[in-house]
Amino acid sequence: RGFSSTSASLAQSATRRITVVGGGQMGSGIAQVAATKNHNVTLVDVSQESLDRGKAYMSKSLKRVAKKKFADDATAQTKFVDDVLARITLTTNATEAAGNADLVVEAIVENIKVKQDLFASLAKAAPESAILASNTSSLPIAKIAELLSAERKERFIGLHFFNPVPQMKLVEVVRTNETKQEVVDSAVAFVKAIGKEPAVCKDTPGFIVNRLLLPYMMESIRLLERGVASARDIDTAMKLGAGYPMGPFELCDYVGLDTIKFIVDGWYKEGQGLQGNKIFESNKTLNELVKNGHLGVKTGKGFYEY
Ligand code: 3HC
Repeated sequence: RGFSSTSASLAQSATRRITVVGGGQMGSGIAQVAATKNHNVTLVDVSQESLDRGKAYMSKSLKRVAKKKFADDATAQTKFVDDVLARITLTTNATEAAGNADLVVEAIVENIKVKQDLFASLAKAAPESAILASNTSSLPIAKIAELLSAERKERFIGLHFFNPVPQMKLVEVVRTNETKQEVVDSAVAFVKAIGKEPAVCKDTPGFIVNRLLLPYMMESIRLLERGVASARDIDTAMKLGAGYPMGPFELCDYVGLDTIKFIVDGWYKEGQGLQGNKIFESNKTLNELVKNGHLGVKTGKGFYEY
């Protein structure tokens, strides 16, 4: 299979080989969802400990799904969880895992250099026909692909999932100026095949969701700083007045305050056309919470205590 062959097969065939690099919340969620829809998945992380943690995330989430799917049938629940997990191979060898992949999805740390280097080594190992994808939420897709050959760049795309991956229906499909149309089509078909809804967009900061969500979160914190209302009342207002499932402070805590700060600081300081845009300027409240290690749900304290 050369570069000229279409990758429509990614969608047409029921079972494809998906390699997910990064076994954190996002990566393990992506692996779980793909395996649930019968794909053969290989999940890669740097240590056995990280892989075990990824597997624990998937087990816990799958049990939740199984409980709903097979309400009063404990045997069917266990079988469902075991069957999905059996389609997921865990490994610390990324290049070997990419060796026969139809699609590689990267969900590792948000560090441009680390991602570029990872893809440079994946590109040496993956079949020429493979689609290479990043789940980055804040870095430019084209920049992540910068070290790759022209042919690889044509088959490079953003596949941005949302937290919690098993529950959130959307995947942003992010095309660069180089991404081939057939690759976009193939990625869209893959997203639909795993039961998600695609939204195709250009490679711009924050894509669609985060470009709108981050200003909303930052303005919520400024509203709090101005003493307009309490965090609880702002959350109640947005849930009951605008129909959001979580209020902005619940959502900030859920996403992680370090993640939010990382995203806005990156745009405000380093750009992608957003340098100095006041909407993304970090503020005292966010900076202090992060400095004191209050990162939200994961540390037991953020805007709220857990
Ligand atoms: N695995 C499997 N199922 C899960 C799950 C998980 N990890 N988390 C929640 N669920 C399921 C529950 O089992 C439940 O199913 P049911 O309704 O069929 O019984 C359903 O989701 C609802 O869960 P809960 O009843 O526990 O709680 P909520 O009703 O509050 O829903 C929520 C939880 C789905 C997280 C909802 O609050 C929500 O949609 N919140 C907003 C999340 C959001 O905006 N995410 C995007 C963040 S931004 C992002 O990710 C981008 C990044 O780049 C920064």
